[in-house]
Amino acid sequence: MKILVTGAAGFIGFHICKRLIKNKNYIIGVDNFNDYYDPNLKNSRIENLISEKNKPNEFFKIYKADITNTVEIESIFHKEKPDIVVHLAAQAGVRYSINNPSTYIQSNLVGFGNILENCKKHKIEHLLFASSSSVYGGNNKLPYSEDQGVDHPVSLYAATKRSNELMAHAYSHLYNLRCTGLRFFTVYGPWGRPDMALFKFTELILNNKKIEIYNRGQLYRDFTYIDDVVESIFQIIKNPPNNELINLNSNDPSSSWAPYNLFNIGNSTNIKLIDFIDLLEKQLNKKSKKIYKEMQLGDVLSTYADCTKLKNWINYKPKTNLQKGIKEFVDWYKKYYCN
Ligand SMILES: NC(=O)c1ccc[n+]([C@@H]2O[C@H](COP(=O)([O-])OP(=O)(O)OC[C@H]3O[C@@H](n4cnc5c(N)ncnc54)[C@H](O)[C@@H]3O)[C@@H](O)[C@H]2O)c1
Repeated sequence: MKILVTGAAGFIGFHICKRLIKNKNYIIGVDNFNDYYDPNLKNSRIENLISEKNKPNEFFKIYKADITNTVEIESIFHKEKPDIVVHLAAQAGVRYSINNPSTYIQSNLVGFGNILENCKKHKIEHLLFASSSSVYGGNNKLPYSEDQGVDHPVSLYAATKRSNELMAHAYSHLYNLRCTGLRFFTVYGPWGRPDMALFKFTELILNNKKIEIYNRGQLYRDFTYIDDVVESIFQIIKNPPNNELINLNSNDPSSSWAPYNLFNIGNSTNIKLIDFIDLLEKQLNKKSKKIYKEMQLGDVLSTYADCTKLKNWINYKPKTNLQKGIKEFVDWYKKYYCN
């Protein structure tokens, strides 16, 4: 199968490409290699994909292109003729969206619209796209499940991700485009994102610098290990939405008469930030110096996923607990940065 992966140089994109290549799928990667975080890390991920054991990888090809560029993206679809699209390219991060709204409007709305148009035009069999747990915004009923209404985003980032879900639904209804939205819950692991807590805290603790802890540590997150996320994407590719299976009386806003699905992808655990730091300190064998700060604008207090819908669809069972996941990350970090 030929699969186009946008955001291939990103954290999740890199891992999904690796998994799909292992199963002998042909991967067309697209990424603009922007400098939201160190582009060297993005280049290293791509180098790792391009050559395995010093042999060029015939299953992988990368295009440096921006998803907002209509001409370039159309020509990639036209030339490569992918069967499936896994769309992960986006401006990520809640806090960055407070001061940099235009990047989110461009990449997450204009860029997403461009991907949808090409999926329609080139008759893509199945579009999978990244949404986020942040769509649950101001909801306070935990765990979050897909049948909850999500109409109160508390950041522009969340609003763009919710908009993607709605835009995809319109294409699914109008053009019979099979779409699956993936609501990721704090994904972490080796080759992770430098702007996320695990990476930042590890870097600061190892360099004897202070870590900032928001809302005095009274924040809770559902941390999901990258291999569990990748495995679920792999299974969802093989199980596209089937509108004949939908129960229209279910009153579930994430289901539809159109070939469309939305899933939470989490670990269904609600870890207190302070406990998470404690586990990291044990793994690093080093205590952190903490500065306690107020709650940040746009942040949510808690994320916690109900993954029953995904379990029923692909028998999803996350396998990696936080202790093991942190160890895998720290081992990678030390090997990559400290050797
Ligand atoms: N990592 C998480 O915990 C998490 C949680 C919820 C949602 N998500 C979503 O999952 C997706 C992947 O996240 P990630 O953690 O791998 O982030 P990432 O930033 O590592 O990867 C995104 C990639 O997209 C590329 N990109 C950004 N804008 C682009 C554009 N206009 N054109 C082409 N490429 C562009 C970036 O260069 C980057 O390599 C994103 O859509 C993100 O919003 C991630």
